[in-house]
Amino acid sequence: MNTVPPTFDTTNSHARTIPRFSGSARELVRRPHRFFLQLTHEYGDIVQYRTTPEPAYLINHPDYVRHVLVSNGRNYNKDTHLNKYMLESVVGQGLLTSEPPLWRQQRHLIQPAFHRHNLVDFADLMTASTQQALARLAPYANQSEPFDMAAQMMQLTLDIVTRALFGYDIGPQAEAVGQAVNTLIEIAKPSRARFQQTLHELDEIVFGIIEQRRQQPHAAKQDLLDMLLLARYEETGEGMSDRQVRDEVMSLFIAGHETTANTLSWLWYLLAQHPDVVAKIDKELEQVLHGRFPTPADFPQLVYTNQVIKEAMRLYPSAWSISRRALGDDEIDGYSIPAGAIVALSPYTLHRHPSFWPEPDRFDPDRFTPEQENGRHRYAYIPFGGGARKCIGDQFALMESIIIVPMILQQYRLKLVPDHPVEEHALVTLRPQNGILMTIERKI
Ligand code: HEM
Repeated sequence: MNTVPPTFDTTNSHARTIPRFSGSARELVRRPHRFFLQLTHEYGDIVQYRTTPEPAYLINHPDYVRHVLVSNGRNYNKDTHLNKYMLESVVGQGLLTSEPPLWRQQRHLIQPAFHRHNLVDFADLMTASTQQALARLAPYANQSEPFDMAAQMMQLTLDIVTRALFGYDIGPQAEAVGQAVNTLIEIAKPSRARFQQTLHELDEIVFGIIEQRRQQPHAAKQDLLDMLLLARYEETGEGMSDRQVRDEVMSLFIAGHETTANTLSWLWYLLAQHPDVVAKIDKELEQVLHGRFPTPADFPQLVYTNQVIKEAMRLYPSAWSISRRALGDDEIDGYSIPAGAIVALSPYTLHRHPSFWPEPDRFDPDRFTPEQENGRHRYAYIPFGGGARKCIGDQFALMESIIIVPMILQQYRLKLVPDHPVEEHALVTLRPQNGILMTIERKI
């Protein structure tokens, strides 16, 4: 996988001094994404921002990002606070958190299910779930009553990932799964006891579904669970243990649900402030779809809609921070990184780097015309990360978005409720702190 040549010429280089932030780290805890942005403004493309218990560096140049995630990716693992203390307690040793050799084996087995041509099988369920979401929105349109669009998007993307994993088999259990997953992603909020109890309940359901499916397998692969159960390791010809299947199921839930919901929520927030952009999408939808729901054959034609989705993920990358631990000493553009150090990078700050994004705070979907994209550094835009550990669900998320956005816009107009503050809250993902209150009108 790592065929990219080393990024920097390390011969004859003199170690450069990395600037160090030594002020109060209160903002790091309170608003870490804004703290990182401030650091990049004050110190530039590399800065040491924490000294204990191990040094931590923030990098913010696409060359540095490529070095850490791709060219020298093997020198970095995911032994970070987020993985060890937050994610592992839910997803165990699933794709999101595991390390090679287990990770490599699992990624190899699971990757084919997420190839673009296999994903087409999920388009129908995404459309069906969105139709149900449209029906849930209908009462608000009739009464012009405010509602939380972020909560609606959470419900929709959870429904989609649940159906993609388990098909339609789980019926009434879907609600229990939904509640449990939502409690678990509030990672910092529930008490330890409630967290453990919820995890236990969800495990019971998931192990129950696995057992039932092992006893009564589908004749052909119908969902991601079938794929996980039918996959065989090349070396042994054996399948995954129930525990491993459970860990992968949890990883896909945790990685695939809230990230996509946030992306869509921020997108509605932006669109409500840019009626000119909505008008351009409308025109494209009319020309390409003539009122039909979008199908995979239409996706390549929905060029502008796609640009809008990309631009929303530039300004509000749901995975706002990515971090790694250096296994051995490293050197990035003449800066020495000691073994054991944490190296953090933030799509949120990188996507606002003024050398790569003129007027970085302006919402402008034309940044993603093919010409503009071709002229830009490939690692200046990384909403899905990069290198070997790049998001496995990127095409899945993009497909959801290119189905959901047109279907909602074909029927409804959305407006922000004035005076309702929408605030960015960066925890594991970048979410709107108090939801996004909107009103909705039926399009005539
Ligand atoms: C807009 C939505 C999404 C965003 C912004 C997003 C972002 C990311 C990012 C940045 C990473 C890399 C993390 C790192 O390098 O430390 C990642 C990994 C991952 N994502 Fe996504 N993701 C999204 C949707 C999904 C979906 C829909 C799924 C599955 C259904 C998914 C499954 C995963 C998994 C399993 C990994 C770990 C991959 C590995 O390490 O092999 N993601 N995601």
